[in-house]
Amino acid sequence: MTDDDAIGEVLVPAEDLARRVRELAAEVSRDYAGKDLVLIGVLKGAVFFLSDLMRYLEVPVEVDFMAVASYGSATKSSGVVRILKDLDASIEGRDVLIVEDIVDSGLTLSYLMRNLAGRNPRSLEVCALLIKPERRKVDLKTKYVGFEIPNRFAIGYGLDHGERYRNLPYVAALKD
Ligand code: IMP
Ligand code: MG
Repeated sequence: MTDDDAIGEVLVPAEDLARRVRELAAEVSRDYAGKDLVLIGVLKGAVFFLSDLMRYLEVPVEVDFMAVASYGSATKSSGVVRILKDLDASIEGRDVLIVEDIVDSGLTLSYLMRNLAGRNPRSLEVCALLIKPERRKVDLKTKYVGFEIPNRFAIGYGLDHGERYRNLPYVAALKD
């Protein structure tokens, strides 16, 4: 099977991503004026979204990264999360915005939220590019959401399948 055979229908075209990212950046800029904003990117998928979002922010901002591995199969997470790379700096007393590529069951993010909340940030919110509402298993507040997508496995714009396709400039469904 060649690469292209695995790329199914386009779920979010590049133009829509670009437009929505700027809208989100404007909202975040408004909400975080006068605050002490730290974006926390969840490696590796969020890097593409985060760097585009950050470019359009009009407030002072710092960035840090975490890498987590969730136990489970490639397409289903278990909610048991291991930290592979922790933050470089303390977030105590700061306004933390977690930037995620996609929230599926929400298990990974709810673990991360609990973990980061324990470090006493002043505020803690989530900005997710994509959510799959049908699959949500836990109650989780996602303050900023780019797009709701159907229950398909998505690739592109950071999202991978077996580490590939992250570089696609749009979000597509993986063909089954
Ligand atoms: P959750 O714990 O079920 O919310 O899964 C979250 C993580 O699983 C995301 O951060 C992604 O890394 C991965 N994931 C979930 N759905 C997809 C998808 O459709 N495409 C690519 N990765 C996904
Ligand atoms: Mg991820």
